[in-house]
Amino acid sequence: MKKRKNIITVAIDSPAAAGAGTQAKLISKHYNLFYLDTGKIYRYIGELKLKNFKKFSYNLINRKIMNLKLSYLNNKSLLSNDVAMSASEVAKDKKIRNIVHKFQQKYAYQPPKRFSGSVLDGRDIITVQVKDAMFKFYITASIEVRARRRFNEYRDLNKNITYKEVFKSLKNRDKSDKKRQYGPLKKTKDSILINTTKLSKKACFKKIKAIMDKKLNH
Ligand code: C5P
Repeated sequence: MKKRKNIITVAIDSPAAAGAGTQAKLISKHYNLFYLDTGKIYRYIGELKLKNFKKFSYNLINRKIMNLKLSYLNNKSLLSNDVAMSASEVAKDKKIRNIVHKFQQKYAYQPPKRFSGSVLDGRDIITVQVKDAMFKFYITASIEVRARRRFNEYRDLNKNITYKEVFKSLKNRDKSDKKRQYGPLKKTKDSILINTTKLSKKACFKKIKAIMDKKLNH
């Protein structure tokens, strides 16, 4: 992988609904970085599986990923709980992960010229994909707070799901994402822990910004 020189790279790993996406967006805006929500690509493949169950194959995934337009990743259909669970299932497959990695690393190391770098969030960004990132954050929060936040998001999207169901689904996904063989979610020693349980979005970003500014202004 050819790497653009002198860029800022931010890698974030986190369990679902811990607030990593929100912080990644704030970081990308403030430092003019290209943002990629890597979970959306697994969600896209998860949705593909739900829609094309019989035709679902590595060939199909390869073709679809090659032609994937980033704008599709904003599609609301990718936000459903069924798609999230399907994403977590397909994400266990090593071949699928390899297909996704190529796509993601291109954006991490060769972000479009108008950006000063990249910020990626997911489960294996620090551990596998951008191991040499300039900044490494592990963002987490208690499962109760994460379930409450995700439940509120579903409610705003008019999704018919109870808090209990959201809680159970997050718990299952945590287990599957942490216990799987390839690219399991774990905190590395060299990443900075940010616990958002009791922090507002603003307070959390302030913390991250202080850490980043200190290094960047050095
Ligand atoms: O972050 P999000 O909840 O959208 O991710 C959906 C699923 O995609 C996760 O539960 C996880 O199984 C998978 N994923 C992954 N590696 C990443 C990002 C997401 O395996 N880097």
